[in-house]
Amino acid sequence: MPTNRIEITRPDDWHVHLRDSQILASVVEHTARRFARAIVMPNLNPPVTTVAQAMDYRKRILACVPAGLQFDPLMTLYLTQETSPADIRQAKASDGVVAVKLYPHGATTHSDAGVSDFRSIYHVLEAMEREDLPLLVHGEVTDPRVDVFDREKVFIDRHLIPLREQFPGLRIVLEHITTQDAVHFVQSSEHNLAATITAHHLLLNRNALFDGGIRPHHYCAPVLKRELHRQTLIAAATGGDPRFFLGTDSAPHPREAKQAACGCAGIFTAHAAIELYAEVFEHAGHLDRLEAFASFHGPDFYGFARNRGRLVLERRSWTVPEALPLGESVCIPLRAGQPVAWSLAALDER
Ligand code: NCD
Ligand code: ZN
Repeated sequence: MPTNRIEITRPDDWHVHLRDSQILASVVEHTARRFARAIVMPNLNPPVTTVAQAMDYRKRILACVPAGLQFDPLMTLYLTQETSPADIRQAKASDGVVAVKLYPHGATTHSDAGVSDFRSIYHVLEAMEREDLPLLVHGEVTDPRVDVFDREKVFIDRHLIPLREQFPGLRIVLEHITTQDAVHFVQSSEHNLAATITAHHLLLNRNALFDGGIRPHHYCAPVLKRELHRQTLIAAATGGDPRFFLGTDSAPHPREAKQAACGCAGIFTAHAAIELYAEVFEHAGHLDRLEAFASFHGPDFYGFARNRGRLVLERRSWTVPEALPLGESVCIPLRAGQPVAWSLAALDER
């Protein structure tokens, strides 16, 4: 008999894009209904580069959380060529900034301020290692000579392996991993290196980009990979290894920004995030391991207490709306117009 109810410790999202202003106001409820905490990405335009900016942004987020929901946004700084060791010390001393995000210049949405010369930021990484402030990495090279589907693997070989040798004590999260190469790299690393895995990379392979025609709402960075990689990600996520944990990378864009001649990267999943992961774990025969992946491994890695609240899902299929409000526009969510097998039942926030 399949189970019809899943009760877990309230989960956290260790990688989400909440944006700002009206878009923030449209999306934050989806995340706050499901997750007690979320690591909020700093790739606003302009990026969040100082503790003061991060704390202001945190206030704007909290102002948009509907009354009655408990949600703690964990803030990050955007690492640029100008970031200094003093910024790192200030972040560590702050009550709210918990990590620093490294975007290679040009790798993804709003990454123009990202780093183009990794050696030139080594003094900042040294400060992070000393202060024990985790580095979150968008692990893709941007070298146009490298095939788009190989950019994660080449990043690991070219940049991450040397960086690890230089800073063995630096805690690193390789964000939204998409390949077997990344899974093997994490598995062969020390335990101060971990990775987040999105629901969409667990649910879709690259065929979803060209399903009867080009599918801009399945386009994200890093791009979806072939089935072999998806299977390896599923095995990693559902395998119980504490170095893999939940990070949705939910990344809303207005419909017109994606349905364009040069469409933006980003898939919106916040509206059904934990429900979609539940489908993956059930299909893999490991529903019993959803809680550790979603609610234990992340806080254990970051050194935070696990949540005390509970979250209940019940087997009740619902249809995702064709579009969701996004500021003055709309966003096309993952599974638009199609069913999701699990529904949120109750939330005991404690
Ligand atoms: C993200 C976004 O839209 O901000 N897009 C994406 O495809 N994942 C940026 C990112 O995390 O790469
Ligand atoms: Zn992201």
